[in-house]
Amino acid sequence: MKESTLVSNNKTRNSVWPGLDSAALVHSAAVFRYIRELIRSAGGVLPFDQYMEAVLYAPGLGYYAAGARKFGEDGDFVTAPEMGDLFGHCLAREAEQILAAIPDAVVLEFGAGSGALAETLITALAQSGRLPSQYNIVEISPDLRQRQHERLTPLCKRYGVTLQWQESLPQSPFNGLILANEVVDAFPVTRFRVERGQLQRAGVRLDGDAFAWDWMDDLDADGMEAQLAQRHQLAEGYVTEACPRAHAWIRALGSCLKQGVALIFDYGFPGDEYYLSQRDCGTLRCHYRHRAHDDPFLYPGLQDITCHVDFSALADAGREAGLQLLGYTSQEAYLLSLGLMELAAPRDDDDQRAILARSAQIKQLVLPSQMGEACKVMALGKAMEHPLAGFDLRDRSASL
Ligand SMILES: C[S@@+](CC[C@H](N)C(=O)[O-])C[C@H]1O[C@@H](n2cnc3c(N)ncnc32)[C@H](O)[C@@H]1O
Repeated sequence: MKESTLVSNNKTRNSVWPGLDSAALVHSAAVFRYIRELIRSAGGVLPFDQYMEAVLYAPGLGYYAAGARKFGEDGDFVTAPEMGDLFGHCLAREAEQILAAIPDAVVLEFGAGSGALAETLITALAQSGRLPSQYNIVEISPDLRQRQHERLTPLCKRYGVTLQWQESLPQSPFNGLILANEVVDAFPVTRFRVERGQLQRAGVRLDGDAFAWDWMDDLDADGMEAQLAQRHQLAEGYVTEACPRAHAWIRALGSCLKQGVALIFDYGFPGDEYYLSQRDCGTLRCHYRHRAHDDPFLYPGLQDITCHVDFSALADAGREAGLQLLGYTSQEAYLLSLGLMELAAPRDDDDQRAILARSAQIKQLVLPSQMGEACKVMALGKAMEHPLAGFDLRDRSASL
């Protein structure tokens, strides 16, 4: 990816994408001004991870912290639980076994989005008689917390489940199931490149009334980026990302989990595949109204920015944090192991439309050309005796 192709320009910005109303553009301009001040206070160049943090999470301004629709057909992207209830029903089968094995188990969902997964899971667990007494959510976005509250409070009242929001992972010992679907790919990443044999860190500078890339020579020689560059022998010109925050998050998981499982679902690969020589532009992707592109400077605050997950790095961080790798596979193999096809079988009261909708959902979830192979599942845990059912068909832990 050449720097020039990434420098955005306000005129193209306004003409490239349809569907932008004036309120959205006013909001994006406010985000632009906020980040411009951050850049000025940082002395002219803001490290990219701080830019990503601000455009996604700055209170009242960032993509996740303001009122953008985000999910579903009217939003910017669709996640597995948003497609229908099959993903949640499969997961409920795994959850039943985990919850049955742990006394006083609690479910904690990290980054619960619209509450779709929680809704299906609580309903399915109620039907199977395996409801936990408590369903906890850690959600950074006040707007989404409100949506979760409206959607889940009546359901939890009906089933007698205590629903709570927490600011962060628990500080005290936690027993139960931790879920994170498409959250780690939304953690801010550092971006770096190999230039004349040295590593440089990406930053963001002002270029008139737009943002542009800049490169700084201030990377820590022992930092994560240097270790990755050495391990994967990154060549001259290679541009990629690292996610030190994912490591910090796994460390926090390791400190709080006493007995239980963390299931992490996300787009990503093992390290050797992530840092392939051919993947020399990294995996940064932006999502706006179901269009994916690679310019994080377009419409600040209006588009999602994600980066694929290096699952080998997560597994290493897990080991260091005292967590056992309990399984790693594709979303396709995981859902099929949990009986996706049986759960999707036609029901007596199905009409033609329901059958068609369910088969469309199956295709999206498992076809390799859709989410089936690109999305992976990793289970990390402690003090769990029995293997997890989701990895029955295929466990690719050895590839990490
Ligand atoms: C791409 S959405 C996925 C939502 C949901 N899990 C789903 O599958 O539909 C990412 C979610 O993670 C939340 N999130 C991102 N970073 C977070 C953090 N550090 N702590 C808690 N929630 C976070 C976002 O607000 C959002 O709810």
